[in-house]
Amino acid sequence: MTAEKISIPLADLDYGEAEQQAVQRVLQSAWLTMGPETEAFESEFAAYLGVKHAVAVSSGTAALHLALLAAGIGPGQEVICPSLSFVATANAVRYCLAKPVLADVISLEDWTLSPADIESRITARTRVIMVMHYGGHACQMKEIEAIARAHDLIIVEDAAHGIGAWYGQQKLGSLGDLAAFSFFSNKNLAVGEGGMVVTDQEELAVTIRKLRSHGLTSQTHERHQGRATAYDVIGCGYNYRLDEIHSALGRVQLGKLDAGNEKRRKLAAIYQDRFRASRSVTVPFTRSPHKSNDHIAPILVPQAEQRDLLRQALAARGIQTSVHYRPIHTFSAYRDQGPFENLSLTEDIGARVVTLPMSAKLTPAQVHLVCDAIEDFFS
Ligand SMILES: Cc1ncc(COP(=O)(O)O)c(C=O)c1O
Repeated sequence: MTAEKISIPLADLDYGEAEQQAVQRVLQSAWLTMGPETEAFESEFAAYLGVKHAVAVSSGTAALHLALLAAGIGPGQEVICPSLSFVATANAVRYCLAKPVLADVISLEDWTLSPADIESRITARTRVIMVMHYGGHACQMKEIEAIARAHDLIIVEDAAHGIGAWYGQQKLGSLGDLAAFSFFSNKNLAVGEGGMVVTDQEELAVTIRKLRSHGLTSQTHERHQGRATAYDVIGCGYNYRLDEIHSALGRVQLGKLDAGNEKRRKLAAIYQDRFRASRSVTVPFTRSPHKSNDHIAPILVPQAEQRDLLRQALAARGIQTSVHYRPIHTFSAYRDQGPFENLSLTEDIGARVVTLPMSAKLTPAQVHLVCDAIEDFFS
């Protein structure tokens, strides 16, 4: 890609005075990791989502890993997940020494996991279906839940894209047995690095809390407060803790989330309107009945060969784009993990997708500039 100056970035942070004050508050408190800010972030997040337990962790990938471990995933087991996702989705399965079984999406309109394809890939070793709500668009959960029930499987939601988006009257991340969120810098709720595991099941939450911090029975902050004087180690856990600064930022960002998502929805509607009659560009998810958070703005170009040319033409006008995603099974690190078969829709999308700028800071005028540049390219 060319190195033109970016004037319309792919993603942007909505950061200001409140975030600065939150960081100051932590610095003044002189307590830096997993203390009152983290506890408050967890309870505010659980209340926002309408779930019983939220456990803050150091990244979305850590959240996926702990969710899978809590679901009992281990060597020899299989987890069905999408290939049209960020590689962390499948990597988390491999951390558990289990096998990611990559499934295809529904159609060129709905890029979420196909319930029929999930069902066709179930074996005696399958234990978890890991759905991913692509771009904040809900998976077909009613159908997937019916499959999980029929085959006695656990549902883990990779809700990294899905914060504040809906499936009917329920928020994404409150539908499965467990869900994992990411607060990476480009997410709708961004803190830099961070994540959250949520569940309604007390037993799973207890396991996740232990695994997050080395399997210890008491934490440093509890000992600091005199609530404990020693600890036992009751499992081979990890250091997946979230620190106080990131937690404080998360609380401020949570307060801004719904307004930011509303802005994104309006911008996404402009992209849709502009391309509705287009003979060159198609926009997915235009028929979804569920309210998205429009985390990203993907389009499809007609021919795979046009994709990089379009991206270069946009870059020449200072417009940054990306690709969500190159399918996981096409990466070198997955070549020996297959065979991965019958993923033709995923491969087609992976070859023709361009992700356009989207953030709560983007303006309608900028969206129109992006659309004008795309129309110019195709005319
Ligand atoms: C779909 C998906 N899953 C998992 C992750 C991993 O999250 P993190 O980068 O916070 O580890 C991401 C992050 O980009 C993602 O987009």
